[in-house]
Amino acid sequence: MKRFILCVMAMLGVMALTAQDVYENEVLNTIMARRSVRQYMDKPVEHEKLAVVVRAGINAPSGMNRQPWVIRVVEDQQLIADVNKVFMQENPEQVKRDPNFKNMFRNAPNLICVCTPAQGGGELDAGLLGENMMLAAQSLGLGTCCLGGPVRFLLANENCKFFLDRLDIPEDYKLNYIIAIGYPAEQPQAKPRDDSKVKYIK
Ligand SMILES: Cc1cc2nc3c(=O)[nH]c(=O)nc-3n(C[C@H](O)[C@H](O)[C@H](O)COP(=O)(O)O)c2cc1C
Repeated sequence: MKRFILCVMAMLGVMALTAQDVYENEVLNTIMARRSVRQYMDKPVEHEKLAVVVRAGINAPSGMNRQPWVIRVVEDQQLIADVNKVFMQENPEQVKRDPNFKNMFRNAPNLICVCTPAQGGGELDAGLLGENMMLAAQSLGLGTCCLGGPVRFLLANENCKFFLDRLDIPEDYKLNYIIAIGYPAEQPQAKPRDDSKVKYIK
């Protein structure tokens, strides 16, 4: 009831949005609750849920609706295990240091690989796509982590070619970033945000 009254007041413009009201609004609540998750349950995400997340992603805006992205959703657990073997061979110390290490993708059971044009461009669009997917995932009780580090490893390491080949990325696209996704096994605290970066010009 309180929520309904707040919504009506906001619609009528009689009430400014305050920090507390953020949590009365499901979209804002989802945005504020999303955190990068790096521990996941041993349970792959259902195909149907991944499809909903990706559909939310491709409904992101893009310049002139060019949709300059290619998306590959990895559900093949063996493929992840195989490429992770390469990572473990190359980074034994890093693996040994982390007692919770499951895999090189921050331990997630599924991956959403986002590719952008090989010649450059499309990064802004692809970023909007990614945030849509991470928020959709959050709203479905899933955790995510945007990953740049593992992409650098995959692209730099010849032994990972089999993984990239399986992604079947068109010649004119390149792997840009990966979203690790799964059922969260941790609830990280929010990291501080720097309000001083914002200025209101009145
Ligand atoms: C472009 C990009 C690349 C990132 N790469 C990694 C990564 O390789 N490994 C990782 O653990 N987190 C990575 N992150 C997650 C950030 O560390 C995280 O978003 C940031 O610390 C803020 O925390 P929060 O997402 O929980 O709010 C990346 C995030 C972005 C946007």
